[in-house]
Amino acid sequence: MASQDELKRQAGWKAAEYVESGMKLGLGTGSTAAFAVERIGQLLKEGTLKDIVGVPTSIRTYEQAQGLGIPLATLDEVSDLDLAIDGADEVDPDLNVVKGRGGALLREKMVELASKKFVCIVDESKLVEGLGGSKDAMPVEIVQFCWKYNLERLQSLPELAGCEAKLRMAGDKPYVTDNSNYIVDLYFQTPIKDAKAAAAAMSELTGVVDHGLFLDMVDVVIIAAADGVQVKE
Ligand code: 5RP
Repeated sequence: MASQDELKRQAGWKAAEYVESGMKLGLGTGSTAAFAVERIGQLLKEGTLKDIVGVPTSIRTYEQAQGLGIPLATLDEVSDLDLAIDGADEVDPDLNVVKGRGGALLREKMVELASKKFVCIVDESKLVEGLGGSKDAMPVEIVQFCWKYNLERLQSLPELAGCEAKLRMAGDKPYVTDNSNYIVDLYFQTPIKDAKAAAAAMSELTGVVDHGLFLDMVDVVIIAAADGVQVKE
């Protein structure tokens, strides 16, 4: 049976088939996206792809892509991207996703919103019936200033009823994002009832930079499973 890593590779390589020469690409973050970036680098090196420019969604991805010789730019330089490829932490039946357990949600959302097409790549373990349903973290990026105040305000939002909020740590210090912010991870016992209302309520809190609910953003999901790779649009 294929390992989870092998499934992630299959999803990443399948996504690389969507890339055409001359494209401006959003390059995602995480272990699944890393396989897609690696494959794009290979295709570029062997000459199958030409004139690609990538916009990385994290410092990690920037370093990986740079090491592979993929020409890179920022959204300041190229803002009309053709395609973004990225992983996800949860995918619901309507192709709404949770992202950001890797801490890159803000840059991911900016880059993916700037792309004509967003291809999301996952292994089958990421599928849920409702967002929040994996009982693992739904990340929210917040400013460092008065983080406890914002953590408590998030936890007491009626739209997030029943969640437990925890400041993400890296050892004995708060985890700091590429944008010098903190992450609050929200844990749910049952899926979020109304993800749109939850997203709107979080976005209204000053001091919340962005959240890991990516709603109505994904165009294609590539799911690698033990019985093969499936594409959902
Ligand atoms: C990073 C992300 C990742 O795409 C998400 O966490 C999935 O990661 P992985 O492919 O390693 O399971 O949103 O911020």
